[in-house]
Amino acid sequence: MRIGVFDSGLGGITLLNQALRQMPDEYYLFYADTDHVPYGEKTREQIMRYVSDSARFMMENGCKALVIGCNTATSVGIAHLRKDWPDIPIIGIEPAVKPALTKYRKDGRVLVCATAITINGEKLEHLIERLKGEEVVDKIALPGLVRLAESGHFEKEEVKSYLRGAFAGLDLKAYDCIVLGCTHFNFFKDTFDEMFPGIPVIDGSKAAIAQLHRKMDAAGILITEEEKQAMKGEPKIVWYESGRKVTSPEELAKIDRLRDRWLQLN
Ligand code: DGL
Repeated sequence: MRIGVFDSGLGGITLLNQALRQMPDEYYLFYADTDHVPYGEKTREQIMRYVSDSARFMMENGCKALVIGCNTATSVGIAHLRKDWPDIPIIGIEPAVKPALTKYRKDGRVLVCATAITINGEKLEHLIERLKGEEVVDKIALPGLVRLAESGHFEKEEVKSYLRGAFAGLDLKAYDCIVLGCTHFNFFKDTFDEMFPGIPVIDGSKAAIAQLHRKMDAAGILITEEEKQAMKGEPKIVWYESGRKVTSPEELAKIDRLRDRWLQLN
């Protein structure tokens, strides 16, 4: 059986790559809901429906665990998914505010970048409150980065010019840590690094996959030697876009380019 990795679009590839690095023996099903991306510009009700339909598809296709590789979908839908499938490990991703505040912040501020839905959601608000970060955390929605990533535009000058506009009004020198709270933003880490020299730019992928491993281990569903033999010859990853198997060479090449880009940055 496979691990399902889900995102509204191709940002979840960053989590899939991380999973392949930390759990290389497993087999994966990647599901991008490309018909409905960007989630960040939809209503919470719409997102709930899309996430629930996508999760059902992955379950019906035999996934033994799910990674919701989308901060927005996690923010809106993870509690419902866990209620619907209580016996399946379902791991989400949320902005890495905890390490930002407890490990990286000195006496400055923390900037959380995400989609508008994540930024305005109660889940993030509660997380910041729990960590007593209300006074030092700034939040900003960067929908343009989702569009740039989906259309494969990573040129630093184009990205910088968008970010300069979005950050106008912020004192960029005030930050001790930048949190990438949308999986699409991980593809732009190099540009963030240049705009915030010497400042940690972090995301929650590693921690999310470590959690996946722990939960699968506890549930006794990590791949066994026997299963490895049975899966021999099967593709390591099967790709779906909104329920359709991805077979077109152009689409697969686009996915490969994004996977390579992440590998170069990580
Ligand atoms: N990649 C998604 C996230 O982590 C959202 C992008 C979108 O669909 O707006 O939030």
